[in-house]
This record gives sequence, C-alpha cells and structure tokens, in this order.
Amino acid sequence: MFERRHLLGLEGLSAEEITFLLDTSESFREVSEREIKKVPTLRGRTIVNLFYENSTRTRTSFEIAAKRLSADTINLSASSSSAQKGETLTDTARNLAAMRPDAIIVRHPSSGAPHLLARHVDCPIINGGDGAHEHPTQALLDLLTIRSHKGQIEGLTVAIVGDLLHSRVARSNLFGLRTMGARVRFVGPPTLVPPHFAELGAELVSDLHEGLRDADVIMMLRIQRERMNGRYFSSLDEYSRLYCLSVEAVGKARKDVIILHPGPMNRGVEISSTVADGPYSVIMDQVTNGVAVRMAALYVLVGRRRGTEAAGEDVPAEPVPLRRAVAAE
Ligand code: NCD
Repeated sequence: MFERRHLLGLEGLSAEEITFLLDTSESFREVSEREIKKVPTLRGRTIVNLFYENSTRTRTSFEIAAKRLSADTINLSASSSSAQKGETLTDTARNLAAMRPDAIIVRHPSSGAPHLLARHVDCPIINGGDGAHEHPTQALLDLLTIRSHKGQIEGLTVAIVGDLLHSRVARSNLFGLRTMGARVRFVGPPTLVPPHFAELGAELVSDLHEGLRDADVIMMLRIQRERMNGRYFSSLDEYSRLYCLSVEAVGKARKDVIILHPGPMNRGVEISSTVADGPYSVIMDQVTNGVAVRMAALYVLVGRRRGTEAAGEDVPAEPVPLRRAVAAE
C-alpha cells in the first residue's frame, strides 16, 4: 500500500511501497496499448504541471498520463508564470492551490522546492525533478524497466555512470535500488563522484571498465553542464575518451546486460550511437514505462485520495542528502 499524501522522493520509501507503485504501474501499462487510450479514473480532476526548468519527456509524460486517466491538465512554465514578475514559488503555489487543483507536479532548479510547496498547499505534490536532489518518477520508471527485463531487482549489479554529482536521477535510483536489494556502483571521474555517496550505499569506481565488470544493468547519465559552475574535467573530449559507453566497454558487463539512459542523450559524449540504438538498449522502453508510472502515481495520490489530511503531514523537514551534495561542491 501507499498511504502518503505526496511523492517527493524515493528516500525513505519502503520496499513494499515501491513494489506497490511498480505493480500499479504495470496494471496501467496495458491502457497505452489500447486503441482508445483512456480510462475514466480521474474524470473531473485537475492536474497542474508547474515546470520551472526545460523538459520534453517528463512534462509530456505527465500530461499524457493525466489525459489517459481523463483528468484536465494545465501546463505552466517559468516563462509563462508570474515568477517573471517577481512572485515567489510559495505565492504562485498558494494561488494555484486556491483554484483547487487535485495535484501539482513541480519541476524546479532548486532542490527542496517540492517539499516547500507540500508544506504550503493542501493538494498532493509530485516531484518532477528538484535541482540535483530527487526525481522519483524517473527512478520508478527505471525500476519498472529493470524489473520487466530482469524479472526482479534484488541481487542485480547496477552501474550508474557519468555525472553523479549533479544527478537527481542517480540519487533517486540509489535510494530505490538499494531498498529493493540491488548492488549499486557509481562510476565516473572522482570530481563527479563525491565520497559521501558511499555513506548512502553506493560503491564508488573511477575506471569505466572496472565499474562495468559483470554489471546486469548499465545506466548512463548526461553531463549536466547547466548545473556546473566549476571545472570537473579538462574537456568534453577527454571525458568521452574515458567514459563514453562504447561497444567495447559494454563487453565488460554481463552478456545479458541492459542499458538505460534517462534522456536527453548526448550521443558521442556519454554514449555511442551504436550502443544507444543497439540490442542491449532499453531506452525507449523507459519512455513507454514513464507514462504508466505517472498514471500510477496520479491514481494512487489523486484517485484514491482519502479525506482531507492536514497539509504537509508526511513532508520531511529538509532533503538531507542534498545538503551534503551541495556542501561537497
Ligand atoms: C533527467 C532530468 O531532467 O533530471 N531527464 C529526465 O527527466 N528525463 C536527466 C537529465 O536532464 O540529464
């Protein structure tokens, strides 16, 4: 069961809660295969997409998910919101909440923004990615993709490669994968793999080939240049010489390895086109599963919502691991 009011992160979720969300997602997967891709589950409900950062996949995926559940959707981006006129995030959210939406999905460059909103509005908040902190629905779709291909998550070795420091995808995956019993390796240059990740249960490896050895799953990450304000490696050329996932590097992993990437991909930087489009890639399955996971999240938080609990009742005070990540920068 999943009794929480918001979906802010995977940190602190139990294996039972994650399994419940994955099982629910699986049951929604079939709706997208129908000719008429719509169920009446959220008819009459209003879902707001509040996106303060660029996004193709995540925003579209949430919108498609909401529409397939028959909800009405409203999209607000930073450029079209009153943030441009100096309004604070909390005031924007309070005003939105006063129009009684049934859920707000928020993506924001500041870590902790969805947690702040969850304390100030009384509808469910879904974190669509906050700074370098968490991106729970991405990790859930990754877990669903892994579980579908491998049958289970427990006991697998998952290598997550690249810019770990700035990656909310990696952080949410670390929490989810560890809780589900996988072994997680963070692979990348030491400047992008800070040592505190070891405290959160990741093995840290700086050599790509060593990091990929016997991996069941490889997850490649983009270099998040928009979050880098210092120098983390000497040039992009050097980075790709050492860390680009080539056919040869894939050969170090298990024969039945699967390769994931949350997108957007920088072909030739972190992943070669041959690998991205090759037989081990499950990148498009991730995108398909994303819609099912977001339908499940909306259904669980909105469709089954009970009573009127006080706002923010299960909101953690602050995103702890993030603080450490920022301090490490
Ligand atoms: C990721 C994100 O925005 O955190 N992408 C996504 O949600 N599909 C990863 C990235 O931007 O590199």
